[in-house]
Amino acid sequence: MMKLSLLGLAMGLASQAALAAPTAPPLQDKQAFIEHLISQMTEAEKIGQLRLISIGPEMPRDKIREEIAAGRIGGTFNSRTAPENRPMQDAAMRSRLKIPMFFAYDTVHGERTIFPIGLGMAATWDMEAVAKVGRTAAIEASADALDMTFAPMVDIARDPRWGRTSEGFGEDTYLTSRIGQVMVRSFQGSSPANPDSIMAIVKHFALYGAVEGGRDYNTVDMSLPKMYNDYLPPYRAALDAGAGGVMVALNSINGVPATSNTWLMNDLLRKEWGFKGVTISDHGAIQELIRHGVARDGREAAKLAIKAGIDMSMNDTLYGEELPGLLKSGEVTQRELDQAVREVLGAKYDMGLFKDPYVRIGKAETDLKDYYGNDRLHREAARDVARRSLVLLENRNQTLPLKKAGTIALVGPLADAPIDMMGSWAADGKPVHSVTVREGLRRAVEGKAKLVYAKGSNVTGDKAIFDYLNFLNFDAPEIVDDPRPPAVLIDEAIKAAKQSDVVVAVVGESRGMSHESSSRTTLEIPASQRELIKALKATGKPLVLVLMNGRPLSISWEREQADAILETWFAGTEGGNAIADVLFGDYNPSGKLAITFPRSVGQIPMYYNHTRIGRPFTPGKPGNYTSQYFEEPNGPLYPFGYGLSYSSFELSGLNLSSKDLKRGDTLDAKVTVKNTGKVAGETVVQLYLQDVSASMSRPVKELKNFQKLMLEPGETRTLTFRISEDDLKFYNGQLQRVAEPGEFNVQVGLDSQAVQQQSFELL
Ligand code: BGC
Repeated sequence: MMKLSLLGLAMGLASQAALAAPTAPPLQDKQAFIEHLISQMTEAEKIGQLRLISIGPEMPRDKIREEIAAGRIGGTFNSRTAPENRPMQDAAMRSRLKIPMFFAYDTVHGERTIFPIGLGMAATWDMEAVAKVGRTAAIEASADALDMTFAPMVDIARDPRWGRTSEGFGEDTYLTSRIGQVMVRSFQGSSPANPDSIMAIVKHFALYGAVEGGRDYNTVDMSLPKMYNDYLPPYRAALDAGAGGVMVALNSINGVPATSNTWLMNDLLRKEWGFKGVTISDHGAIQELIRHGVARDGREAAKLAIKAGIDMSMNDTLYGEELPGLLKSGEVTQRELDQAVREVLGAKYDMGLFKDPYVRIGKAETDLKDYYGNDRLHREAARDVARRSLVLLENRNQTLPLKKAGTIALVGPLADAPIDMMGSWAADGKPVHSVTVREGLRRAVEGKAKLVYAKGSNVTGDKAIFDYLNFLNFDAPEIVDDPRPPAVLIDEAIKAAKQSDVVVAVVGESRGMSHESSSRTTLEIPASQRELIKALKATGKPLVLVLMNGRPLSISWEREQADAILETWFAGTEGGNAIADVLFGDYNPSGKLAITFPRSVGQIPMYYNHTRIGRPFTPGKPGNYTSQYFEEPNGPLYPFGYGLSYSSFELSGLNLSSKDLKRGDTLDAKVTVKNTGKVAGETVVQLYLQDVSASMSRPVKELKNFQKLMLEPGETRTLTFRISEDDLKFYNGQLQRVAEPGEFNVQVGLDSQAVQQQSFELL
């Protein structure tokens, strides 16, 4: 009986649906489809769509499914793999309107195969390599039932005290914009609806990298021309490349938190830039409006956020709790609610979820037994990108490449550190898959040379830092303290050094030191490791420093101790192999710094494209009343764009096709580059422009283009850079984007400092 009546009911519903069907717009018509759906939604269902919930140990799965089935959750983040996400999508399919869920994650520099951190990716100056990262990450993430990533992170960072410097692509607007675009295109493929694509959410809008003092979450105060010229273009570039969404920054901008900033979200993002896509708050940011001091309570916080244009609330409590009351009182209008819902549904539509809610989840029959298998990794791609990201900073007396012979001492707390290898935001990367430096070297010299290993020191002797880092990671201890006294650790390393022909010391920061909420007041290598370096130097053996770190370090002292220095960032799953490839010359290093290395923390901010001033320091002419510090030589330790090779390259004959540029025309800068060394290698030829005299003081130079090329020994090639009026444009004091007539300098170099120059006139 029961069965029959249920069947009858179902048939009744089906015939109703059949009756309603002709009026329901087809799926192919996005706008009509979404409007029709919205017209059927209750207010509670609409609010549900705006809630993005974190899946973690604290969140019981059955409760989540209940909430989803009741239409109270729009999407989740942090859960991945089909068996985990399918039951949630099933729950959504049981909800009244069957609106699919989406599943998001921080797939930042890889999903399972971990690639170098952002700063390392940027050091490749290689857009094919960057595309490989984005595409591989998308393939792996989508195979893990993920639809969306909170990446790329394109916050310009000019204060390396900020721990999140590691995540971004450095200090430069142009390079960051290029990389951001490539990341978006490679995450999303030809469409974010493709089964092997994930939607890119560019973050953190805006200016998060400019937090005062480099202290995370601090406030940002910035002039509009600086914003428009330097900090905003990368977000815009990522959106122009088609990023489906924007994550809103945690910081305030000129006194107004981004999360409640109607100028930022409405006037700039929506109106001026014409952005059509979803906006998502950062984790708990709406609640934080109370502590920012702009909202009295949760109710006001929710109201400010939705009115400012925050569509989705990450880790939501307040939209769920407060929007019903705010709608009832009329403080938030139906129109405002509908607008936010429209964007969330639009993103789901664009991810292909209405067409097939299981597009990335697949069928249960195809679920894997083991999602964490080594066979799921893309190791070759990871090794290739990792070697391109390494920057050779010093190489005295051709200490490198090393011979695969004799005895090599490998020391340092980061030599055998699988977690650190991955860097922060390592998505679902597993330390057991990391090839550490020790393992990479072992494989490289097997049967040829002897490798002796000693830890030599702990990463830091500071217990407070230790405890903090371990608190950051709840899965496993982030760093393990060797309880032996420092002198015993050092003695062991000295013993290893003494019996060896060369010492390779892997030193720097543990990954947690370059992370969210991990700001530093010093850029030095921790004292425990400096003691180790000192002791190693005293052995008189050739000393190679392999640096692991997520920010520029001030290594003036280390530079004096070491014979060679290789900057490796956090190079990812295949980092150890990549580092061995470079140390032994199986790969000729080609990376260039995407961020300036200052001499000391006191020089910060220090970036290559600073604004011109009235009393600049003149190299070679020290004197009073010029812009300088007492204690240090002027200028950086290593400039932006710098990096050595086992070969040497020479630039010559910079020549412009014309001395004048008419508006609308172009001009060619030609330069010849020669490999003057003995081995084949790649280098990056960089083009900078300087506006000599304008309505505002302009930067001393700005990167406008670059070309990376491979040259055989003795090979010469002439490169052409086309310069157009657009390259000369900037936002003036009235925020108009203009190219002003007058003289421009064209500078070409293999780094930002040693350049050749020619000039032309914009008519
Ligand atoms: C970070 C974001 C990240 C989010 C979700 C926040 O703490 O600021 O960058 O996407 O967490 O994991």
